[in-house]
Amino acid sequence: MAEKLISGDVYFPAEETVANSHVKDWNALNKYALENYEKFWSERASELEWFQPWEKIIEDEDKPFYKWFVGAKTNIVHNCLDRHVKTPNRNKLALIWEGENGESKTYSYFALHRETVKFANVLKSLGVKKGDRVTIYMGRSPEIVMAMLACARIGAIHSVVYGGFSVEALHERIEDSQSRVLIVQDGAYQRGKIVPLKDIADEALQRAATVEHVLVVKRTGHQINMESGRDMWYHELATLPIATQKCPPEEMDAEDPLFILYTSGTTGKPKAILHTHGGYMVGTYTTLKYVFDIKEEDRYWCAADPGWITGHSYIVYGPLLNGTTSFMYEGAPNYPYPNRWWQMIERYGINILYTAPTAIRGLMRWGNAWVTRHDLSSLRLLGSVGEPINPEAWKWYYDVVGRGKCPIMDTWWQTETGMFMITPMPSVPLKPGSGTRPFPGLLMDVLDEEGKSVKNNEEGFLVIKNPWPAMIRTIYGDPDRYVQQYWSRFPGSYLTGDSARRDDDGYIWIIGRVDDVIKVSGYRLGTAEIESALVSHPYVVEAAAIGLPHEVKGNAIHTFVILKYGVEKTEELKEELKKHVGHEVGPIAKPEHVEFVDSLPKTRSGKIMRRVLKAKALGIDPGNLSTLED
Ligand code: WT7
Repeated sequence: MAEKLISGDVYFPAEETVANSHVKDWNALNKYALENYEKFWSERASELEWFQPWEKIIEDEDKPFYKWFVGAKTNIVHNCLDRHVKTPNRNKLALIWEGENGESKTYSYFALHRETVKFANVLKSLGVKKGDRVTIYMGRSPEIVMAMLACARIGAIHSVVYGGFSVEALHERIEDSQSRVLIVQDGAYQRGKIVPLKDIADEALQRAATVEHVLVVKRTGHQINMESGRDMWYHELATLPIATQKCPPEEMDAEDPLFILYTSGTTGKPKAILHTHGGYMVGTYTTLKYVFDIKEEDRYWCAADPGWITGHSYIVYGPLLNGTTSFMYEGAPNYPYPNRWWQMIERYGINILYTAPTAIRGLMRWGNAWVTRHDLSSLRLLGSVGEPINPEAWKWYYDVVGRGKCPIMDTWWQTETGMFMITPMPSVPLKPGSGTRPFPGLLMDVLDEEGKSVKNNEEGFLVIKNPWPAMIRTIYGDPDRYVQQYWSRFPGSYLTGDSARRDDDGYIWIIGRVDDVIKVSGYRLGTAEIESALVSHPYVVEAAAIGLPHEVKGNAIHTFVILKYGVEKTEELKEELKKHVGHEVGPIAKPEHVEFVDSLPKTRSGKIMRRVLKAKALGIDPGNLSTLED
């Protein structure tokens, strides 16, 4: 480590940590990657297997539609499974799973390969082909991993909808992606209850006409409706002779789509972020290896949900590409008691824990004794993602969970970036609350309104100035919006939507979103989704949603509602509206607070001025009001 003076509240890595990590000298690696950007990435790509090599590493003729590893052929699943099955890793555990009800299952690489092939054959028997979209709506189960890998293996594009979303969110995503096949679980256990995924899907399907086949994976075994001709049990199809046939991975072009994943943007409905087989594979493989310093013997736990990008990149693809053993847990962290996580870390000997600040704050509230009664000495590294981590939570995580011995990797990235972008590595000095510096080779900047770099310690728009392998390729079905949303504010730079500042050591501090995205418990929601759910209620004329600070959730949703003339403003109606949003979008979108108002602050062009509502709620100066209508 360079002996540069570094200021602030700094945690230096232990000598032993540096000596044992993949990247011992971050500065040297960064210099190398900056000076040899394409070479750096092609070397990383060469650690994986390709059916045909690339002719060009980066193609930027049609900016911002960048291409990576042009001309190469591969399949990410070949590298996740088949590559390991040829080596002694075939008998290594790929996945250890624990259900909320205590059930547990393990899969070696050999077994996960076999189960994925089976799943892929079942999908093929339903007519799923390369390029088809398949929607997956499941809980945290081994089968969701198989379902995703099975799609990718045959070249179908998976679109996973988080199991915490509900009817309208699911309907909208099925329809936008034009999926003909839906894979769903009967239900999932959460806090001792069953989340009725299939029932929710049935209701969504009454609104979406595209789906021909519903493949149902049995988890809870509770009574569900099976519509004949449309719905089929996975376990029944999986016993047919066709399921055990060979199913070599489809040869994919590096730039062929791997998946789409919907996320909330500035305005309007959620957009389908598209990722590809080649670049995404290289990006997730490399970042996980370097940042979480993956070792042969590791047991790694990313406690996110596969339904979000964190799960796609760092539960499913990144860990399997690295041949590591992942742990997955189905349920709630405090079920049946607040020591559930710590109990599992002890029982399975987890070395790496990667979670979100909201979870840390939640666990912290239960008190230290739940943690300290367990032997957590297996832990070597900790991780955080999803929102800025407040120093208090950081220190608790570091001292109590990590016993002062585990560096915390605070990773900043997005659905769109596909991979870690601002992140430490174990050998890097840490400052609680900062994700440190951009991943080696990446050029990131903080800009003012005019697009000029701001001075150190000043706030501005966070942008990315060079392409990276796992970058978003387009918004599926809406390339214009891709250009408009990310590349038009500061031409040539990718707009992240976050504000940030950079300190004198080059460390970046994320402040938060500058658009209409609200991060609730680390989940990304759009004001538009919440508002349109409210307006879909028969009593509501207009609605506005804002995020206000919340101790555990980071932000909580507050809404302002104009009711139809003559409708009585009751407390019961407030509760009904909250429930309605929960039913349409999902429990995570349920407003904390509903306020009935007679008007909303708007610009002369009719746009709701959410910042005025926010300032009023917080009792602060609303700033420039010159565009306010009245
Ligand atoms: C937004 C992206 C990609 C992982 C999960 C979120 C916020 C993410 C951090 C962090 C501060 C963070 C940003 C970003 N964010 N990680 N370490 N520190 N903020 O993915 O749902 O696409 O959300 O999450 O605001 O723009 P996502």
